Amino acid sequence: MIIAPLYLGKFALPAQILIRRYSDRMNEIICATCCGSTQEKRNEKFGYQGAFRHIRKLARGKIVHCEAFPIALVIPEEKRDDSEAFMNTRLTDDNFKGEILEKFKGFIAEVRKS
Ligand SMILES: Cc1cc2nc3c(=O)[nH]c(=O)nc-3n(C[C@H](O)[C@H](O)[C@H](O)COP(=O)(O)O)c2cc1C
Repeated sequence: MIIAPLYLGKFALPAQILIRRYSDRMNEIICATCCGSTQEKRNEKFGYQGAFRHIRKLARGKIVHCEAFPIALVIPEEKRDDSEAFMNTRLTDDNFKGEILEKFKGFIAEVRKS
């Protein structure tokens, strides 16, 4: 499993390099990211779908699942348009609840199938 943040529409460079160099030696790869892009914006230039497409290409068919954990899921709805709140929010034990926790449980269930 490879977990990395997204920067400028792609997985962080060390994750890209790892996959490009070593995917041939891996069986099935699962990728996950904590990212700024929301589900609504996932198809935009810096959205996670583009990053998933890119990393899948680098992995040459080895990726079996990609999952995004948008930071917006732990930001109160009224602050989701506040860019400062976005940049300053980190996942913590305290805020890892509700929608993001449900998403995580779904992810774990999916991973267990692989
Ligand atoms: C310079 C910079 C560029 C970023 N670019 C993107 C992006 O293109 N798409 C995205 O979804 N999130 C983007 N983000 C949000 C990060 O993926 C998110 O904040 C992640 O949690 C950062 O992890 P870190 O706190 O360990 O650096 C960006 C954050 C920074 C600081």
